[in-house]
Amino acid sequence: MRSVPVELGERRYDVLIGDDTRRQLAGILAAVLPDAARAAIVTQAGIGVSVDPGIPSDRFNVPDGEQAKSLAVVEDLCRDFARAGLSRSDVVVAVGGGVVTDLAGFAAASFQRGIAYVNVATSLLAQVDAAIGGKTGVNIPEGKNLVGAFWQPKAVLCDTEVLSTLPPREWASGRGEMAKYAFLGGKAGFDDRSASSFLDLPLDEQVARCVAIKAEVVTADEREGDRRMVLNYGHTLAHALEASAFGAESGSDLRHGEAVAIGLVFAGLLARRLGRIDDERAELHRQVVGAFDLSPLLPAEVDPGRLLSFMSRDKKANHDLTFVLDGPDGVEVVRGIDRTDVVATLAEMQHREGGRGQ
Ligand code: GLY
Repeated sequence: MRSVPVELGERRYDVLIGDDTRRQLAGILAAVLPDAARAAIVTQAGIGVSVDPGIPSDRFNVPDGEQAKSLAVVEDLCRDFARAGLSRSDVVVAVGGGVVTDLAGFAAASFQRGIAYVNVATSLLAQVDAAIGGKTGVNIPEGKNLVGAFWQPKAVLCDTEVLSTLPPREWASGRGEMAKYAFLGGKAGFDDRSASSFLDLPLDEQVARCVAIKAEVVTADEREGDRRMVLNYGHTLAHALEASAFGAESGSDLRHGEAVAIGLVFAGLLARRLGRIDDERAELHRQVVGAFDLSPLLPAEVDPGRLLSFMSRDKKANHDLTFVLDGPDGVEVVRGIDRTDVVATLAEMQHREGGRGQ
């Protein structure tokens, strides 16, 4: 089992990665939360991962899908916790992917003004990203993750054994987030020119390397003052793709990580257009996305104007267009981007590839 610390002073915790970490839950709860007498296990009906917290527990299922990330579901959970008699010294255990960890984490942050929670991440995407870092929250019709809290878990368990039953599209989604880390390397990272050899590593090591990069960034900027925004690399377009015509309600089923992969290629081309990187570096974005077996193509029917309006609403935007872009000093937040450059880059992607589905 590998252990990666997230060093946040009194809020520090370990991310444990291995093929049986779910079975360590009782011991970990006893060690990090010795006063917890009761656990609320938050999961989904289809997750099928059973855990033993070693203390009396109740299980609460939340609905599937991004639409489950709502204030109504948080209210339901908090009422469930109250009826189960959860006290401030007890613990919420989230068992699932990013929807579950975001919901359970925010319910834990809110219930009695904050009780402890532990994530048992069961999807690749949650293991390398969503379950770590303390950003919890839900969606409102005006945008994704617009209501939430910074609330760090007490531990994160990444059980790589349970990933064996993950559907192929969920693997692809996780790989999109993994591909992002190729460009965020830093001292904990993997060489951005060796995505293929990275993919030859044992899965637990791949996960641990991504977690180490994320942990380093979160430690440097827990509450997303600036640096932490680099974790949103590729996400400005990805969120717009998900929020606009290509959300679940449209019948298109672009997964989050698949949208991030397209967003990475877009970010590379935009950075090149702005003279921040050269052709070779922009092309590397496409190569890395390809090495992770993901498509770089914009959906064919994309409406650049609609995407632009969603990108302007992105939380990072602060009213102008803000992107996380590669450059001579690495990936960083760049504000005040001209809309015409964004539209031209979208058009370049459409013209170059003809678009997905044509
Ligand atoms: N929960 C995801 C993050 O903190 O980045």
